[in-house]
Amino acid sequence: MSIKLPQKLMLLGSGELGKEFAIAAQRLGNYVIAVDRYVNAPAMQVADAYEVISMLSADDLEAVVKKHQPNIIIPEIEAIRTEKLIEFEQRGITVIPTAAATNYTMNRDRIRELAHQELGIRTAKYGYATTLEELIAVSDEIRFPNVVKPVMSSSGKGQSVVQNKSEVEKAWNYAISNSRGDSQKVIVEEFIKFEIEVTLLTIKQWNAPTIFCSPIGHRQERGDYQESWQPALISEDKILKAREIARKVTDALGGAGIFGVEFFITQDEVIFSELSPRPHDTGMVTLISQNLNEFELHLRAILDLPIPHIEQLGASASAVILASEKSDFIVFGGVANALSEKDVDIRLFGKPNAHPYRRMGVALAKGVNVQEAREKATRAAKKITIN
Ligand SMILES: Nc1ncnc2c1ncn2[C@@H]1O[C@H](COP(=O)(O)OP(=O)(O)OP(=O)(O)O)[C@@H](O)[C@H]1O
Ligand SMILES: [Mg+2]
Repeated sequence: MSIKLPQKLMLLGSGELGKEFAIAAQRLGNYVIAVDRYVNAPAMQVADAYEVISMLSADDLEAVVKKHQPNIIIPEIEAIRTEKLIEFEQRGITVIPTAAATNYTMNRDRIRELAHQELGIRTAKYGYATTLEELIAVSDEIRFPNVVKPVMSSSGKGQSVVQNKSEVEKAWNYAISNSRGDSQKVIVEEFIKFEIEVTLLTIKQWNAPTIFCSPIGHRQERGDYQESWQPALISEDKILKAREIARKVTDALGGAGIFGVEFFITQDEVIFSELSPRPHDTGMVTLISQNLNEFELHLRAILDLPIPHIEQLGASASAVILASEKSDFIVFGGVANALSEKDVDIRLFGKPNAHPYRRMGVALAKGVNVQEAREKATRAAKKITIN
């Protein structure tokens, strides 16, 4: 297949990941339409056109597709009416990686079942519940501690670690009140005492073999990533195992594009957790750590352009810049101070407003080793003040 440039790309979701993707797409002269549910979203600031709609509304999606006639639709978030994407695909629009894959990964249950039941991949032991009584019963099977999550949610929303039976009801209420849509279904997972958790960026291509980035280690708090680093220091055999799993799952999903495949690594196991069929937030470290970052890789895979070589440029890290309070008028301080160190860079996303823990930017650093890179990135992130 040979795809002619420019292409008309419609981004569904226009956050910081979409913004970097739009920049990569623009660099090759493509036309980008950025869509999100609020005005002035990061990717809108660098796109050729933008639309503010509810991406869960089939009618809204229909209207923007009709208006802009994109060749390719590129989802950036999970909360999209994915049934509508299936219809667009049937009408000849390419959906990345495929419409079915976005549908599979929208909620936690289908992708989990694909991995575990159909492909026989090791995951945390899990079960489902749709009532408190069921949750109590499944929790007994899975045992404690366990993790309760709404089947429909992301960024750790509604998720809690349950230590014992007395905490089950609280976890149920928390999950149900933070579930997306009107879903009443929760997943209970065995709590994995991992040594490290990693994202394996996996690039699935239309007409070339699947390739991988060096694994990225990350640390999460409140369900959101705080820092990530590359390379993650795990053994070669575990890397090969993770690649084998990532290849299996992405082959089953099909299509083309980058996937962020998440794993828990224990002393002797590589456990599949979940995946995003798109660039991953922990992969922002690749903005400094690779010759081609995850957004450029996504673009090349989508446009069927060659990726002759992915070079890891040495120990690198990213650390998030979070807001601490609500604000509708953002002023950053400490930027000069943050940039005063060698091999440090930052991205400020340009989000129009802030609330506690909202990710407003990211600090990037290279170091002599991973530890130094992490310290530098975290130091730079801490120097940035908001308002
Ligand atoms: N079974 C588990 N055992 C131990 N830790 C877990 C488990 N499930 C989740 N976690 C922790 O919670 C984090 C978020 O979980 P998960 O990735 O499933 O949720 P998410 O809401 O999809 O997050 P995101 O969309 O930001 O990736 C994980 O990265 C991990 O740190
Ligand atoms: Mg996750």
